Amino acid sequence: MELNKEKITLIADCEVTDKSKTAGGAVVRTSKFCADISECDFEGSCFVQTNLCATFKRSDMSGDYFEEVNLSGAGFERSDMSGDYFEEVNLSGAAFERSSICGAAFEEVNLSGAVFTDGDLSGVEISGCKLDGMTIDGLDVRELIEFYKKNHKENCDMKKNVRKAVIAGNWKMNKTRPEAKALLEELKGKVSDPGCEVIACVPFTNLETAVEATKGTPIKVGAQNCHFEKSGAFTGEISADMLVEMGVEYVVLGHSERRQYFGETDETVNKRTRAALAAGLKPIVCVGELLWERECNITEEVIARQIKLDFYGVSAEELKKCIIAYEPVWAIGTGKTATADQAEEVCAFIRATLAKLYGDDTAEAVTIQYGGSMNAGNAEELLSKANVDGGLIGGASLKAGDFNTIIEAATKG
Ligand code: PGA
Repeated sequence: MELNKEKITLIADCEVTDKSKTAGGAVVRTSKFCADISECDFEGSCFVQTNLCATFKRSDMSGDYFEEVNLSGAGFERSDMSGDYFEEVNLSGAAFERSSICGAAFEEVNLSGAVFTDGDLSGVEISGCKLDGMTIDGLDVRELIEFYKKNHKENCDMKKNVRKAVIAGNWKMNKTRPEAKALLEELKGKVSDPGCEVIACVPFTNLETAVEATKGTPIKVGAQNCHFEKSGAFTGEISADMLVEMGVEYVVLGHSERRQYFGETDETVNKRTRAALAAGLKPIVCVGELLWERECNITEEVIARQIKLDFYGVSAEELKKCIIAYEPVWAIGTGKTATADQAEEVCAFIRATLAKLYGDDTAEAVTIQYGGSMNAGNAEELLSKANVDGGLIGGASLKAGDFNTIIEAATKG
């Protein structure tokens, strides 16, 4: 906390009963204030181990620091306490009337029975505090917190409802053509009217079979990669135009297995994303941290970097056509799923990063999936999270029954 050193007066080990001793920037230690204090300047003061059972009226106490202070039963009236910091303070039974407390922080403070009336409490942070019987404008604070939580969730759910839930199966290098046909036939029987978008991302050799088998059904077809050039001497590669011509709508890009085994970098993911968009494909761009990066606490840096680089030069309108799959590399194919809270935390971070780059409206419109050992047993919890709009499913997409259970969970989502 910043104190204005020039203004500092040290008031220590004394009993203050008149207001002449008060001053802005004061450091007050082990003292006792028992006066009725009106119209005083305490701005930027610091109170430590002090007994302040006084009545403060129309005083400037903004930016003050209180530690181990006894303020029980104290009265604050029309005072400015904005930006104050309270730690291990006893404020039980204190009364705040028409006072501004905006931006104040209360940590491990006893606020039981404290009464706040007609004040400005915007941006207040409360952690580890006793709140029994505390009221704000006559309403019990616990009820207010419950109300806020419920509304906040409803608000998040509403935003989630605006977005498309998308469940995509990433078949990887699995299934011959007859096997692909059989799996899609089985899936078609189960998925007739899904409450979310369903995509099967199949190997290149199965694309034609898949497009044929899913005609007239809600199941869409995606590829698992495409090259960034339109055509030319790129042996073994497939262009975005070639996919579009086959009736493919989606393409997975930057999957961690391609980054890990085939030298894919954020630069090439960016080029592929732009080429796919230009050709009219909808990219599913994968991002995610390695276990080592998570353990080093740099998950957010890694994700922010990938988002910035992979979508460099992509406009807001184009971004809305993309899906982002958050796939922590340590959870892919390992049976180790991120907890629903971990998935939510990073998906929310991705949305916040998009909001910084493209604005809130665009960020709210983008579908963000979680991927990494999502299965029939854990999908519902993962998909219930406010920022988890769908899933990119590997192993569990190879069994029609399991994949369908995940689709049903997304519909509840
Ligand atoms: P997994 O794969 O579900 O088998 O972990 C997910 C993915 O690679 O997209």
